[in-house]
Amino acid sequence: MRTKVAIVGAGPAGLMLGQLLSQMNISNIIVESRSREYVEGRSRAGQITPATVRILTQSGVGERVHAEGMKHSTLQFHYDGSTRELDFEALTGQTVMIYGQQEIIKDLVAARLRTEYPLLFGAANVQVHGTDGNSPSVTFRHDGRQQSVECDFVVGCDGFHGICRPQIADALTCYSHAYPFAWLAVLAEMTPIAKDVIFSSHETGLALFTMRSAKVSRIYLQCSPDEDPNEWSAARIWDLLQSRIEGRPEKVDGGAIIEKSIVQLRSFVAEKMQKGRLFLAGDAAHIVPPTAAKGLNLAVSDANILARGFEHFYASDKDDLLLSYSGIALKQVWRDVQFSHSMAMLLHRYDDNAQFHRRLQIAELDRILGTGPAAQNFAELWVGSPPFTASI
Ligand code: APR
Repeated sequence: MRTKVAIVGAGPAGLMLGQLLSQMNISNIIVESRSREYVEGRSRAGQITPATVRILTQSGVGERVHAEGMKHSTLQFHYDGSTRELDFEALTGQTVMIYGQQEIIKDLVAARLRTEYPLLFGAANVQVHGTDGNSPSVTFRHDGRQQSVECDFVVGCDGFHGICRPQIADALTCYSHAYPFAWLAVLAEMTPIAKDVIFSSHETGLALFTMRSAKVSRIYLQCSPDEDPNEWSAARIWDLLQSRIEGRPEKVDGGAIIEKSIVQLRSFVAEKMQKGRLFLAGDAAHIVPPTAAKGLNLAVSDANILARGFEHFYASDKDDLLLSYSGIALKQVWRDVQFSHSMAMLLHRYDDNAQFHRRLQIAELDRILGTGPAAQNFAELWVGSPPFTASI
């Protein structure tokens, strides 16, 4: 088999890149190790920025986002016993959408199946070869047969634990930071307690309240990184959520818990995001703590920048845009890592020197939620403007 671009991984980065390339009539294959059911069922991020909505819309997969996504224009910060609002629409003129990552995945898979290009689920032993030369290939086992795909380029969209980044480890400088806390992530059949996302910075730790639909709530509670989710009964979860929003009028009456897991918080960036004919996109190249909901949006942004590089290459035979992919993408990556990290510092309980950290956090929250330029700055970072993709 021969194709122009071989994509490893069918998460948001791989599927988005495949969709953009297919629209540009650039042949491509997507090879994914898991099943379609698994990939479409994974419950993860859920907030999408205006730039992501625009890319989805322009690539023909925006219909359901617009019909079913929930438009948000304000954020609530609850601390020190009271709540303050940040109206980011008033400050930036932009809104964000709440729309589950797995719904985007379903939309992208459905669009992919309408194209002539392959999307192979359940591929085993995926390996990448020859990306330092001019004729790379990807080999794997699929449908009981060993297969080989020759290509011009390989893109590793295979997430943090994938096989592509290790392939070029010798050329990478990696930066990482582990946080001394984790999140208990809960998906529950519960009518959202408020119309907005609520960040509560409580003395005992963060509670983040968000939603996936009119009947499903997503709740995150700060916990220690070594927690076992099985030790969190429904009663324990609802009691802790209630205590961390003390001072607010809502009474949490719980609901059936659909899913619970522990999310480790980490920042990670690999520089550069390319070597030879192998490129990295999304979580394969970087991880942000989920505090600002940027992971999914960065994956889509990488795919968009890279697709434009390929478009330029195949239209003009010039690789200048492809060579500058990493430089353009990393500007946005570092901006979002910095913002997500600063939000992590702002909202969690630090056990070490707790009272000092608490005072610093309250001073910073007061500054952001005041009438000065900090609110404007925060709002712009929250909605992700200006998008770096505008520079190409
Ligand atoms: N071969 C083929 N596929 C692989 C391999 C492999 N060796 N290793 C991993 N994969 C697949 C995974 O099964 C997964 O479906 O690559 C895909 C990577 O998808 P994601 O982890 O979702 O990464 P990405 O597309 O970069 O999206 C990042 O997802 O986890 C969220 O918060 C994150 O929102 C961010 C977004």
